[in-house]
Amino acid sequence: MIIHQIEELRKLIKSWKKEGLTIGLVPTMGALHNGHLSLIKKSVEKCDRTIVSVFVNPIQFCPGEDLEKYPRTLDADTKLCEDAGVSIVFAPSPKEMYGEGHIMSNDFLTYVIPPFFYVNKLCGKSRVGHFDGVCTVVNKLFNIVQPDFAFFGEKDRQQLIIIKKMVHDLNIPVEIIPCPIVREESGLALSSRNKYLSENGKKEALVLNRILFNIKTCYNKGIKDVEALTETAYSFLNANHTLEYLEFRDKNNLEEKKVADDNTIVFIALHVENVRLIDNIEL
Ligand code: PAJ
Repeated sequence: MIIHQIEELRKLIKSWKKEGLTIGLVPTMGALHNGHLSLIKKSVEKCDRTIVSVFVNPIQFCPGEDLEKYPRTLDADTKLCEDAGVSIVFAPSPKEMYGEGHIMSNDFLTYVIPPFFYVNKLCGKSRVGHFDGVCTVVNKLFNIVQPDFAFFGEKDRQQLIIIKKMVHDLNIPVEIIPCPIVREESGLALSSRNKYLSENGKKEALVLNRILFNIKTCYNKGIKDVEALTETAYSFLNANHTLEYLEFRDKNNLEEKKVADDNTIVFIALHVENVRLIDNIEL
């Protein structure tokens, strides 16, 4: 079943809570693929009721990004959710979420702003304000759905870390369940933005996971020096790739590592055919 109105969803949730049912929330922007599906399956397994939100959140897109062309496939998404045992697809309009006139600037809307240390690096560096938009919408979804569990993919690792921090700092009564990255057989991490790539672009995009898995192999062989590990990446790059960042950071607080250890995550962002792709691996 699909619901577009907050009030209608609230009523249903109230009745579920009365019955003592547990609620799982899987926040998405739609164009669902097997990566999303893995989160959905986990929620359906763990919770009595699962709500999947499908909302292309305008306030997390920066000027010049792909808000307009972001793939919207609500019918297919709803079918996939129904087949997977989801109770409700919640698909609000921007107006339903942000009000009349879509007044979304922070002059008019209350925002949830994550700490600067968490957002001034990695994706937050080039996507200024992105995580403010993410935290604001996720916080709204938490308030609307009041889930017991919420499921987030490790594919967007910085997002996951920031959301965990928000939940901790604001005492939000929800348990965040991290879910591993789902990849194609080729190793390419599934992403709604892969749809923008040509066949050749998809091949070029394999460089992300090649770099990461090679770094992990080197680390397992005993190379811990981050400079040396970083250097192993360069032989994989060619003129079709524009590297945005390759960074080694602590998996809990995103502090920079000079020497890699078992708490290190390697983060990469790289552009292929003008498509921005991200990936990461835990050492
Ligand atoms: P979206 O990009 O649609 O992703 C929804 C969820 O699916 C995120 O938690 C993301 O990490 C997870 N996901 C995407 N690809 C994955 C993969 N290959 N393997 C595992 N998990 C994967 O992330 C967002 O939407 C938005 O920022 C949102 C949190 C919904 C707020 O608007």
